[in-house]
Amino acid sequence: MGSMLVAIDGPAGAGKSTVARAVAEALGFTYLDTGAMYRAAALARAGRAEVDLAQVEIAFAGDRVLLDGEDVSVAIRTPEASQAASRLATDPAVREALVAKQRALIAGGDWVAEGRDIGTVVAPDAEVKVWLTAAAEERARRREIPVAEIVERDERDAGRAAAPMVAAADAVEVDTTGLPVTAVVLRIVGLVPR
Ligand code: DC
Repeated sequence: MGSMLVAIDGPAGAGKSTVARAVAEALGFTYLDTGAMYRAAALARAGRAEVDLAQVEIAFAGDRVLLDGEDVSVAIRTPEASQAASRLATDPAVREALVAKQRALIAGGDWVAEGRDIGTVVAPDAEVKVWLTAAAEERARRREIPVAEIVERDERDAGRAAAPMVAAADAVEVDTTGLPVTAVVLRIVGLVPR
């Protein structure tokens, strides 16, 4: 069998991480959190704008995220890190460096990759593409942040010139508003040919 990729894209708080993790577990695929890579890159660049991201190692060890070997799993999840990642992700050179790392990772084996541009830029030939959404109010509640903050990130992620957050034309839209995770996972697993 060749390798298989399930691409899950969508806005912050749609449930991508929880759902993608569970889909990967159900299928026996490896999970890739590309948002964690933008977050780690933002940490690497904090106060050091000259850092060449191609030279920085971003690795995953189970649930841990390692930046040049240092465990940054907690540091990348602060509200400040979220906003810094969203800002850094507007930089085309940053995206180019991280997309190269992502393509190298998913080149072998079966993956569930989640982000904003997996089905459009990182892997336009993904076997399965999902656009995961939910109402802004529900996404803000899930993230325990004000609706205005979610809307601000949506606008920046969707409005940037470089690889704006957008559903691939051939993505299946799954609205998770009011749906239990198990239902969403079953729906997506059902899309995977096997
Ligand atoms: O999914 P997340 O919230 O961890 O992502 C953090 C930021 O990184 C988000 O605001 C947009 C950016 N991002 C991106 O531009 N492309 C991706 N594939 C993943 C994340």
